[in-house]
Amino acid sequence: MNKQEKEKEMEKIKKEIQLCSKCPLSQSRTNSVVGEGNLSATVMFIGEAPGFNEDQTGHPFCGAAGKVLDELLQSVNLLRKDIYITNILKCRPPQNRDPLPEEIKACAPYLNKQIEIIQPKIICSLGNYATKFILEKYGLKEQIQGISKIHGKIFTINTLWNDLFIVPLYHPAVATYNPLMKKILLQDFQIIKKILS
Ligand code: URA
Repeated sequence: MNKQEKEKEMEKIKKEIQLCSKCPLSQSRTNSVVGEGNLSATVMFIGEAPGFNEDQTGHPFCGAAGKVLDELLQSVNLLRKDIYITNILKCRPPQNRDPLPEEIKACAPYLNKQIEIIQPKIICSLGNYATKFILEKYGLKEQIQGISKIHGKIFTINTLWNDLFIVPLYHPAVATYNPLMKKILLQDFQIIKKILS
């Protein structure tokens, strides 16, 4: 897909997401949060679901967790404009509760299409939900473990278009309430640099 085709396809999904009513989260959303960044990104980050700030603005990772994410990106010389970032769910769960299986199921086609458009070389799954989703998607169900066990590991997949590296990471939100986790995240982010070089 060339740049124009990618833009066209992403615009199509954006409209679908904005009009989506496939699950009850659509009724409580202020804004849906499609995702943002470079449609030709090598690295794609997948979070869980929009929080309060994201729901208010329509932008992914624009609150406290986003600030941590920006620092982590900077530590490996990446900027938001270099990567693509989205979530499993495009609408905020009430009180930021965990996503429900039926919400993930309803929303999954959007993320799957986004991955197909971007065709990243590295997918960083942020936290337990995104990691489970991605490992399952690529037939690695038996590798699923809690994020404390598999953060910073690299899973290599041969896809139709390239070799894909899946890197599970702690969700950056953990560093907002546990500063020691920032250190672990900074270490794990070095893996991205290693794969890119
Ligand atoms: N947490 C997420 O998982 N995604 C966001 O966009 C914001 C916070």
